[in-house]
Amino acid sequence: MYELPSKHFSYCNGKLFCEQVELQSLAEEFGTPLYVYSEATLCEAALAYEVALKDTPHKLHYAVKANSNLTLLKILQKRGWGFDIVSIGELARVLQIGADPKRIVFSGVGKTEEEIRVALSAGIGAFNVESEPEFDRLVQIASEMNIRPKLYFRINPDVDAHTHPYISTGLKNNKFGIDYFSALPLLKRAAATAQAELVGIDCHIGSQLTSFSPYFDACEKLIELLEKLRSNGIEIQDIDFGGGVGVRYRDENIDSLDSLVCGLRTRLSEKGFSHLKLVFEPGRSVVAACGALLCTVQYVKTTPVKHFLITDAGMNDLIRPALYASWMPVIPTALTEAADQTLFDVVGPVCESSDWLARDRELPAKAGEVLAVTMAGAYGMSMSSRYNSRRQPAEVLVRGKDAFLIRRRDTFDDLWANEVVPSDF
Ligand code: LLP
Repeated sequence: MYELPSKHFSYCNGKLFCEQVELQSLAEEFGTPLYVYSEATLCEAALAYEVALKDTPHKLHYAVKANSNLTLLKILQKRGWGFDIVSIGELARVLQIGADPKRIVFSGVGKTEEEIRVALSAGIGAFNVESEPEFDRLVQIASEMNIRPKLYFRINPDVDAHTHPYISTGLKNNKFGIDYFSALPLLKRAAATAQAELVGIDCHIGSQLTSFSPYFDACEKLIELLEKLRSNGIEIQDIDFGGGVGVRYRDENIDSLDSLVCGLRTRLSEKGFSHLKLVFEPGRSVVAACGALLCTVQYVKTTPVKHFLITDAGMNDLIRPALYASWMPVIPTALTEAADQTLFDVVGPVCESSDWLARDRELPAKAGEVLAVTMAGAYGMSMSSRYNSRRQPAEVLVRGKDAFLIRRRDTFDDLWANEVVPSDF
């Protein structure tokens, strides 16, 4: 039997349901490729953080980059979540859904002058500063604007997150954060300036962490820094451990959020920092399980050495396999009796050999079959593109027995909406 992403996805009489809605009926109604999200699954993932942190002073900032659909953002905002953004495009999105600017934190290594100005004018809660030149730029712009921003400093603790190299961010050869040994002088400067308020330190060591020991290594390093700050008479209010909590795509066993919170709290309390607010910026672990990408098999193609299921979803719709060789679950939306043991590569129509969704999978091999790539709610739609002039997919949210279109499929006009053919051509 196929492993399902949450209890809100189930087979009933051989048909795959998301909550009370049959996925094949959504494929018929809205067409494929189609992203479908289960609201109950999203809320359950958010609740897991809320429960793990209920006895701890904390702040939860959803990392918008994982999935920036307005409806999903609204659901999290209504639950009281703040937002971690990395561009003013993401800022515009969260303001669009009516988020409280004070609950927005701006992260990212490359904030431009324009982005800093726009974020300051919007009155965001804080910036995660990633370098000394960024600090200088921020303070200069803020004092010109007569604003005193709150700042976190993202420290690069030089710990190995044991994840894919492209999504490992806490090693000293990564571009992220402030070098651990240069941090103290910079933090002292920040604490001394009247033009900004130092509120916290921060680290984000990588994504899709399956074991939490790298968080604890990072925590111990940050505590050493906190002790040095303390001996310089500097106290902060918040400590932010970023995002990074992994999910089960295949056979990963993820430690519990309780063990993460408890491990961090214990370490902080032992050294007299139990009063610090714990901040998290999770993305993947909040939205991955709620989303499935539906696609329709167009052709079953057999070569002397391989069997392919060619679907209508490609790397432009879901780039994770092409970019990180990641294993995404692919399951049928209708169970069949077929005892065919053939192994298929599930590929898309894009003109690149990297255009694959899954390799060597046993699946029903019929053209017309609708397949579901599950666990696709995080870094699926948000990393999609229009490569090959393919229209970006529609998105549907399921709530119980109802399905809501939350993004229409691109039209052809959308493909060239920003292009101008000068009149002389
Ligand atoms: N905070 C910061 C500063 C980040 O850079 C990220 C993710 C997060 C929070 C959220 O991390 P999460 O909880 O989602 O692991 N596209 C890749 C993942 C890139 C993660 C980038 N940063 C993938 O599909 O695996």
